[in-house]
Amino acid sequence: MSTNLHAANAPSHVAGTKTPFSKLNSKPLSHIVGPDGSKRAINLCAGQAALPQEVLERAAREFVNTDGSGTSVCEMGYRTQPFHRIMERAESSFRKLLNIPDTHEVHFFNGGATLQFAAIPLNLMGGENEGKCANYLMSGHWSEKARNEASQFGEVNEVAKDPAGLYFSVPPASEWNTDKDAAYFHYTSADTRQGLEIRDFDFEGLPEGMPLCCDASANLGTFPMDIAKHDVIYSASHKNFSASGICYAIIRKDLISRKNQMKAMPTMCNWVKFQEAPNKIYNVPVLTSVWLGAMVCEYMIEKGGIPYYEALAIKRSNLLYDLIDSSQGFYRTFVTDVKFRSRMQVVFTIGSGTSDSDVALVEEFLREANDDLGWLDIRSHPLGLGHDVIRVTMYNHQPIETITVVRDYMQQFMEKHATAM
Ligand SMILES: Cc1ncc(COP(=O)(O)O)c(C=O)c1O
Repeated sequence: MSTNLHAANAPSHVAGTKTPFSKLNSKPLSHIVGPDGSKRAINLCAGQAALPQEVLERAAREFVNTDGSGTSVCEMGYRTQPFHRIMERAESSFRKLLNIPDTHEVHFFNGGATLQFAAIPLNLMGGENEGKCANYLMSGHWSEKARNEASQFGEVNEVAKDPAGLYFSVPPASEWNTDKDAAYFHYTSADTRQGLEIRDFDFEGLPEGMPLCCDASANLGTFPMDIAKHDVIYSASHKNFSASGICYAIIRKDLISRKNQMKAMPTMCNWVKFQEAPNKIYNVPVLTSVWLGAMVCEYMIEKGGIPYYEALAIKRSNLLYDLIDSSQGFYRTFVTDVKFRSRMQVVFTIGSGTSDSDVALVEEFLREANDDLGWLDIRSHPLGLGHDVIRVTMYNHQPIETITVVRDYMQQFMEKHATAM
């Protein structure tokens, strides 16, 4: 296995085909039928990602004259009563859905999750924490990005680093090299590349009293996360809650303070400035994503909240894992420990994924699914193999019907080619 082809290598492709969906969708396995009877693409995109069609229909109806305000949300002033009401709905439904305790503040920061990669060290590694390092549990590509950003501002202690950069598993907390005096501990609860998820963070590995920060971009709202045991949880909006552009942040109130802030930082990273601004709005938010997010959270509560979405995530991902595990080696995942197998991304290859014949099969699978069937975003990163692999994304709002189509195609493909291996 080549060590320079690690998890951070990205494929250089643009997903999808130039043939319009209307010309492909008469084929079997090219679409699902939505709740209103219309054909919907097999959307496996990881950012942005599928949203509930019922919410999209409601948004379309309410877009031009949002909440009877006489204006659309995308031309609404951010300091108007209609938008303040939307912000209140967005926060209260998000709090209710996740059962967020009063000890924690909620913010809808601009700049996606990536800006919080910088905001966390800027707010927590200065002042009384000056000179302390920060612990980063390494679990894949996104923890590498978070680490890279933090290391621009202070010293980072990499916990449980995989020298090959593959991260198909995470060692137990008893083996972590945690710095006991660090300013905070950071981990990523789901890495979208290799399909690894940490749903059961090992709190034993955390020195007493050390603030715990989690990038839960890929899986917040998909399982019952213990919010009170975390100090900062942040999540890109475009996967499980809304369209892109904002970061859902849950921060323990006493951490929003000048006492551990660095002396200089961009205002957009300054949690205190946002906290002290009227209605926690410092500059113009991504109003349309906040609005859509309010409707999505309300819809999620109506559906049955986290227990409903967790059960769905298990059932949906098992459609593929069961087929892979019973395929007698035709299909193979990289993460094999059930504890760490992601319910958000099922990432796999065919056979070894490296021999000429297996690579040819992977390419045939990808070509048929992408070009002939018009599936969106099925090709994935090489993961140390030197060749692209196959990734199926299924955040909260991925219809199970989409994954059933994927499963049926995988079954047919295997039946056609199993003897060729
Ligand atoms: C785990 C994780 N963190 C952070 C991000 C980046 O989020 P954003 O694009 O909102 O900055 C992503 C993907 O988009 C992700 O999967």
